[in-house]
Amino acid sequence: MRPIAAALSLLLATTACTTMDAQPPAVSAERLVAPILTTPDAVDSSTFAQPQVARVTHVALDLALDFERDRVGGTATLDILARPDASQIVLDSDGLQVSRVTDGRGNELDFDIGERVEGKGAPLTITIGNARHIVIAYTANPQASALQWLDPEQTAGGEYPFLFSQGQAILNRSWIPTQDSPGIRQTWEARVTAPKPLDVVMSGILQGEPEDLGNGRRAFRFVMDKPVAPYLIAIAAGDIDFRAIGPRTGVWAEPAILDRAHWEVADTEDMVKEAEALYGPYRWGRYDMIVLPPAFPFGGMENPVMTFLTPTFIAGDRSLTGLVAHELAHSWSGNLVTNAVWADSWLNEGVTSYFENRIIEEIYGEKRAEQEAALSFAAIEDTLAEVGTDAPGTALHQPDGTDSAGSAIVYDKGAAFLRTLEHEVGRERFDAWLRQWFDNHAFEPATSAMIYEDMRKNLARSEAEAERLRLREWIYEPGLPANVARPDPAAFATVDAAAAAYGGSRAIPAAAAWRKWSSAERQRFLQKLPQELSAEELAQLDRQLGLAATGNNEELFLWLELALANRYEPAVPKAEAFLAEVGRAKFVRPLFATLMEEGEWGRPIAQRIYAKTRPSYHAVTRGSVDKVVGWKE
Ligand code: BES
Ligand code: ZN
Repeated sequence: MRPIAAALSLLLATTACTTMDAQPPAVSAERLVAPILTTPDAVDSSTFAQPQVARVTHVALDLALDFERDRVGGTATLDILARPDASQIVLDSDGLQVSRVTDGRGNELDFDIGERVEGKGAPLTITIGNARHIVIAYTANPQASALQWLDPEQTAGGEYPFLFSQGQAILNRSWIPTQDSPGIRQTWEARVTAPKPLDVVMSGILQGEPEDLGNGRRAFRFVMDKPVAPYLIAIAAGDIDFRAIGPRTGVWAEPAILDRAHWEVADTEDMVKEAEALYGPYRWGRYDMIVLPPAFPFGGMENPVMTFLTPTFIAGDRSLTGLVAHELAHSWSGNLVTNAVWADSWLNEGVTSYFENRIIEEIYGEKRAEQEAALSFAAIEDTLAEVGTDAPGTALHQPDGTDSAGSAIVYDKGAAFLRTLEHEVGRERFDAWLRQWFDNHAFEPATSAMIYEDMRKNLARSEAEAERLRLREWIYEPGLPANVARPDPAAFATVDAAAAAYGGSRAIPAAAAWRKWSSAERQRFLQKLPQELSAEELAQLDRQLGLAATGNNEELFLWLELALANRYEPAVPKAEAFLAEVGRAKFVRPLFATLMEEGEWGRPIAQRIYAKTRPSYHAVTRGSVDKVVGWKE
């Protein structure tokens, strides 16, 4: 713990103990209180909270899910740590209807919801006086940006509605009134009621069997006894079943897809073991996953003890399980050691992408790991070619106001940085360093400045070596430093030769050879094809390689992108069906963008499809596609 943080948390803990509020906390007084950072680079511009004055340390939710009115509501009881002179606490909120706030004894407290700032929500300021436990009675808006209420038609079973949340980055304030900032860690517990026969899962440990309330509803209880960043509180409810993988791993999914989901993630228990062997104990108890309906806006979300997954990673051959390795790796990078501010999200995503590749290497071998690393590296090169190697948005640390160059930087350049360090100092030294980073900062927030200092102190052996590693340049400068470790060119030797042959003489790989390639190789081939192709050439490729019919969504996506960019009419119905079913922003946004780039041919198609599919997308996906198609409500 750094001295400032330690001193502050001590000070706050002492003052909390001397308050006059008699109400006991909801579970136990002996909860872990995580430190906060107070340096300027750790100040989160995306929160209204003033954690140095008063902060939330524990959240106890008592909520009912209303699938008739798409509403969640009830109470949130917050434990507060505050300076003795603090008279107010400021929370984040977005569209919450707050009916009443009381202290622990039921005395009414004044509160005020300030002006809403687009994308950030509104401050909820509560006059606390001496109260250190407050109870907020509220309901969330049916349009709450974190939540998606699915009609039965959007599920595999088609019979029951479904609900899921997506908190990252700053959406949880739309259904939970708390301080929604990654540097303000909170323990939490919840009691949630839902109509039978729906099951509820959360990113906390389920307590016992659900309680039958006798009114057609059941109550589920969850506890997260480790302090987590509030974006990691998550819920899903639907007609779902569970199947175990190993002693501490398992998967939830709708009954109709549970078999396929379970087969696809069968390596998960082994992944947890390998991850532990690499970087230390898995500290969260269980590692379960839920495979959601295809409307889920991300590939995956690392909600503690309950990773959320898109079903689009199910390819029938475990070729896309890098996703599982990735979300699992976040149990260290992200959930254990957490970016204090979103400007440093490379600390979550870049470190995780590196760790993901190490898990893949252990489980599936060096070749697959090397190929996936090469795909990741190609994404950096593409982005740098597009935005320029001196674009500020290509630095890992992305201070507020920088126009980020996107995931190729925080994910792929972040991973390339750690890979470079591994190559420079050797695996043994590198692994020991990364493990101590996780151990020494477990359950704490972190910044770029902190990891930079830590690398200088604990990774480099001398000032001269620190210089040679180009640490500052990697973190704070755009482009790629000269010491970058490039992927092995042999990783894709066969495929790159095949793509070059196609570019020259339009020779298409034999169908049998194509099927034997790894998914990474097929993706590489599709990415290396000439950008401009005629309808006849596309038809031939599809006929020979079965592209439109593939069950691998990463490959299907690349095919659709290529086809639409060439105004290939026969691909439109398939694209339309895909966009009607899948809400994963990584697929949906680029497909609409490609159509929009195709002028008078593509624009009307994009607008026609989007008018139909928009209501089926999560707010995250709608937000990103609205900009692309120029959508006006
Ligand atoms: N934490 C992210 C998802 C996320 C990022 C949500 C930023 C909101 C804001 C998750 O771990 C992730 O990276 N998902 C990727 C997985 C891929 C890199 C394997 C995805 O969804 O595609
Ligand atoms: Zn991630």
